[in-house]
Amino acid sequence: MATDLNRHAIAGVAEVVGGQGGLPAVRVRGAAAEGLVYLHGAHVAAWKPAGMEEVLWMSAKSAFEPAKAIRGGVPVCFPWFGPKKDAAVHGFARVAVWELESIRHAAAGVTVALLLRSNEVTRGMWPGDFSLRHRVTFGAQLEMALELTNTGGAALTAEEALHTYFAVGDVRQARVKGLAGVTYVDKVDAAKQKLQEGDITITGETDRVYLNTRGAVVIEDAAKRRRITVGKENSLATVVWNPWIAKAKAMADFGDDEWPGMICVETCNVGPHAVSVAAGQTHVMTARVGVARY
Ligand code: BG6
Repeated sequence: MATDLNRHAIAGVAEVVGGQGGLPAVRVRGAAAEGLVYLHGAHVAAWKPAGMEEVLWMSAKSAFEPAKAIRGGVPVCFPWFGPKKDAAVHGFARVAVWELESIRHAAAGVTVALLLRSNEVTRGMWPGDFSLRHRVTFGAQLEMALELTNTGGAALTAEEALHTYFAVGDVRQARVKGLAGVTYVDKVDAAKQKLQEGDITITGETDRVYLNTRGAVVIEDAAKRRRITVGKENSLATVVWNPWIAKAKAMADFGDDEWPGMICVETCNVGPHAVSVAAGQTHVMTARVGVARY
């Protein structure tokens, strides 16, 4: 399979490899960054800009199996977010096998485009007709553009998230900036709506949906002395998640002691910000991640 997929390879820059569990993945080794994206879920599992340490977090306990989501990196959640009766949590996109559409090499980096189209199986779980393209550019920045086209005859409404796991030195010493004064839904406190006062600090299980967010969010990682900036376009919600002690223990694919090393800051359109796309129209949600030492 990898041989056939390698018609898209660019010698010395990008090739399809057998990733963990033998799942096919595109490995990128560009001048500006190295990266890895699985066809399973269009799941970005690594991004390491030149001269920097790995920016994304991956669990050592992650499954790498066709029916399961990868734990860490950037799961693509679509067309729903959160649990749904008799269906996969966070939608089917993160456990579907995407088609490798193209690999391009340009000044900004190496761009891998992956494609998922509605089919009999997706229609059994969700009625929309769509094509979903995930364009990932591994460069000095990590740019991820999720392009949803409604290929059906009626409007569709979907939730979507780039559920990005960032590696931090110690989440207890990190601050998340850029959401002060924003209302959020507190999923660990009966979905109450609350107002964010000042920076976010992580002092317990944290699972929040920040509403009406447009600006960039900065993770200031005091332990690693680096700043991760998450900018975005056409996304109106931001989820911040860390499972803390008990929830990490309860998850089979998450190491008991791994939670201090990660934080999710998710670029999304979920809940009241689900996107409606008219027949024949396209919606593109973009996340742009940068990293710098301080
Ligand atoms: C977050 C949700 O985005 O993802 C949390 O807000 C959830 O509620 C977390 O626990 C992880 O989800 P999953 O399905 O990957 O275990």
